[in-house]
Amino acid sequence: MAEHVEVMLTEEEVDRKIKELGEKISADYAGRQVHLVCVLKGGSFFMCELAKRITVPVSLDFMSVSSYGGDTKSSGVVRIVKDLDEPLNGKDVIVIEDIVDSGRTLSYLLEMLSDRKPNSLKLCTLLDKPERRVVDVKVDYTGFAIPDEFVVGYGLDYDQRYRNLPYIGVVKFD
Ligand code: IMP
Ligand code: MG
Repeated sequence: MAEHVEVMLTEEEVDRKIKELGEKISADYAGRQVHLVCVLKGGSFFMCELAKRITVPVSLDFMSVSSYGGDTKSSGVVRIVKDLDEPLNGKDVIVIEDIVDSGRTLSYLLEMLSDRKPNSLKLCTLLDKPERRVVDVKVDYTGFAIPDEFVVGYGLDYDQRYRNLPYIGVVKFD
């Protein structure tokens, strides 16, 4: 099926927002080191840009999860495909996500990570679709709240494509 992508948030809008988030995080974590945990693959573009805007010391780690049953949207039970390299105990951790949709993946993940005894654990997402929430998740830093549309770009994919778009777009089927 043919499709095209319409711009929802321009590259400039996204960059400006990430700069703001970086400034906010730098102020909130003044005098501390922040440990960013990226949820692959979607969170990777956002995390790199955000990390560059944070002025307190930063360390990074990555994890990859998939839901049992394949469809991330239908199940909240998460399987770790790639675990973190480093322990979290005593660290000030911020989980970096591309989007919070139903909230199922994040609520499961945050519970699992809090068992590893970080000093603090927060969640930062570039996008949030509040209308779609099924499971309550506390989001500490949000880039943009967006309407219930399927978006791509800045790490988000449709069938593994479009992650590399430097803006956020909506997929429209022709
Ligand atoms: P959850 O429903 O909050 O558990 O979100 C699960 C995952 O679904 C997200 O981390 C994304 O990878 C994916 N997802 C949700 N909405 C979109 C979208 O609009 N575009 C691309 N991926 C999405
Ligand atoms: Mg994701």
